[in-house]
Amino acid sequence: MPTDPQSPYLPFGDNTRTPWYGKDILSVKQFNRADLEYIFGVAHEMRGMVERVGTFDLLKGKILANLFYEPSTRTSSSFTAAMERLGGSVIPINEVKYSSVSKGESLPDTIRTLECYADVIVLRHPEVGSAAIAAKAAQKPVLNAGDGVGEHPTQALLDNFTIFEELGAGQIDGMTVTMLGDLKYGRTVHSLARLLTLFDVKINYVSPDILRMPQEVKDEIAVKNIPQAEYNTLEKVLPETDVLYVTRVQKERFEDPAEYEKVKGAFVIDPEIMKTAKNEMIVMHPLPRVGEISPDFDDDPRAAYFRQMEYGLYVRMALLAMVLGKA
Ligand code: CP
Repeated sequence: MPTDPQSPYLPFGDNTRTPWYGKDILSVKQFNRADLEYIFGVAHEMRGMVERVGTFDLLKGKILANLFYEPSTRTSSSFTAAMERLGGSVIPINEVKYSSVSKGESLPDTIRTLECYADVIVLRHPEVGSAAIAAKAAQKPVLNAGDGVGEHPTQALLDNFTIFEELGAGQIDGMTVTMLGDLKYGRTVHSLARLLTLFDVKINYVSPDILRMPQEVKDEIAVKNIPQAEYNTLEKVLPETDVLYVTRVQKERFEDPAEYEKVKGAFVIDPEIMKTAKNEMIVMHPLPRVGEISPDFDDDPRAAYFRQMEYGLYVRMALLAMVLGKA
């Protein structure tokens, strides 16, 4: 594996027994700042390799079981692409109704089955804590691809990598990050807020009252002495914002459809409102979107949400290589 001499990150070699070999990735709480620099260094190298050669055989002979109990476009397909870009192969289980899950097979038994055939397992599941249950059952590494309203650690890593790549590695200290929309059910913002505590940032939460960031997450952030503030409107904080992280109001998480109707469309980012934002800032979104960012804003250079998806490929390549002992 060549090393990119232009890389602003740590060097990347062909180690076979790294500290991440065989590890699960379940929560952002596992990571410290040095870990992030390492992961982003590897991801940056992966980006360079994809741009130069497309596909290479770092994980040739390795198999990923991609097990999704909930819908996904980005996470599922980027893990598949990541494995295939690294020369490995994938067992895709995107429709669990066609697997033995529909016969009542438990999650631990499903995991034990898949690890007979695969070297690493990626899991998305509707229940909080499911990834930890899977990891307990498995001997092979389990990567949490979203556990209900709990965490989405690989998304938080790619979000952080996006900020590094777009606004400059090492520049994140001193930034103001504003999270907008459904902060109650949005697992991506739960993970990102926790991960941002590794930096010297200020976090603003803008949401309807019924979709506030959970107290448990705010308490964790407060313990790390990160300034946090809550707002009902965006106007006051948009001019100071360096990263605007927009989220979808998640209809599927509401028990009462009437409550969803009250808050859907509460915030819409469009060229008019973005006139008050800085020129040097980015707008992110984990996607999919359903109206909270107008397509009229898509061509603005600050619209980073499509580039953000591509950064996810490189981060997931890095994570797969790391847990399989090849980075
Ligand atoms: N960002 C994200 O998790 O997207 P998918 O639900 O499409 O995987």
